[in-house]
Amino acid sequence: MAAGRRKIAVIGAGNVGATCAFVLAQMKVADIVLLDIFEGFAKGKALDMSQNSNVLNYDGTITGTADYNDITGSDVVVVTSGFPRKPGMSREDLIGKNAEIISQVGAGIRDHAPDSTVIMVTNPLDLMTYHMQKVTGFPTNRVIGQAGVLDSARMAHFIALELNCAEEDISPMVLGGHGDTMVPLPRYTTVGGIPITQLISEDRIEAISARTAGGGGEIVKLLERGSAFYAPGSAAAIMAESVLNDRRRVIPASCYLTGQYGLDDVYIGVPCIIGANGVEKIFELDLTDSELESLQGSANFYKGQLKDILGY
Ligand code: NAI
Ligand code: 2OP
Repeated sequence: MAAGRRKIAVIGAGNVGATCAFVLAQMKVADIVLLDIFEGFAKGKALDMSQNSNVLNYDGTITGTADYNDITGSDVVVVTSGFPRKPGMSREDLIGKNAEIISQVGAGIRDHAPDSTVIMVTNPLDLMTYHMQKVTGFPTNRVIGQAGVLDSARMAHFIALELNCAEEDISPMVLGGHGDTMVPLPRYTTVGGIPITQLISEDRIEAISARTAGGGGEIVKLLERGSAFYAPGSAAAIMAESVLNDRRRVIPASCYLTGQYGLDDVYIGVPCIIGANGVEKIFELDLTDSELESLQGSANFYKGQLKDILGY
């Protein structure tokens, strides 16, 4: 392995966790530990992926475990443990069960990987990220939620379909919570540097934004069991790599706010730089009244749930 024996732990060896580990293995950036409450499940997936090393030419180790001692020394921990949605459920319907799982997982991370940066994936994302920060007591810059990379990538895909253009030339921007209240920002979404407001009609932009906000639900409905995992697992891997290699990628992520956008004591999706220290900088965009109202509405929805359901 080129980059020395750095270590990433992925908690939850299910669909998202295994996909994330699979993508990270191909990046060749670190040894990978997959931890699941079901030991054999984690070990089996890790062995299967290890047997892919010769075929896909990666040489770091991939191990499975149910023992938190094995995550000791992790630079980054990606947390995907928890229940996914079933058709008809909102992400918020998962709060109770997943909060218990995050309490247990957070204690394991706090005790065994106290210097790590945590990338949260478990839903409801913005609430579970807040909860993880409280359980670990880590500085807020070292607990980050993955949502914006995925939601923006979904928007980019729908724009590529609309314009019949290359996906890589699209710079999408979706802020707010990872749920029905997310805030696609067409004014800040460009294709080859051109704002989409100059390329796509208003009603088509509205349709693309609505499909983006319902993007996860569309897949849940199609799959009938479980939720999306290829794009979510890859999105989490991209964030983990940006921390590990101090790439300083500029992406939207669920960050702890301390007054930005008129909001505080809440995790919500905003543009930021992700580097070796986790969230290195949060950017405050110049928003219209209506864009700001949508972002604040999204954050206040989650603030209400933090208080009413999780007791914060
Ligand atoms: P999955 O059911 O395939 O995998 C979840 C895994 O967590 C299972 O293997 C399970 O055994 C494990 N687990 C449960 N309790 C555990 C514990 N206490 N300790 C360790 N492992 C435990 O589910 P999937 O599809 O991988 O989704 C995982 C989570 O990610 C869900 O909450 C889902 O809603 C969320 N998600 C979030 C996205 C985002 O953009 N933030 C996108 C896609 C999924
Ligand atoms: C998604 O957006 C369910 O959060 C998951 O696909």
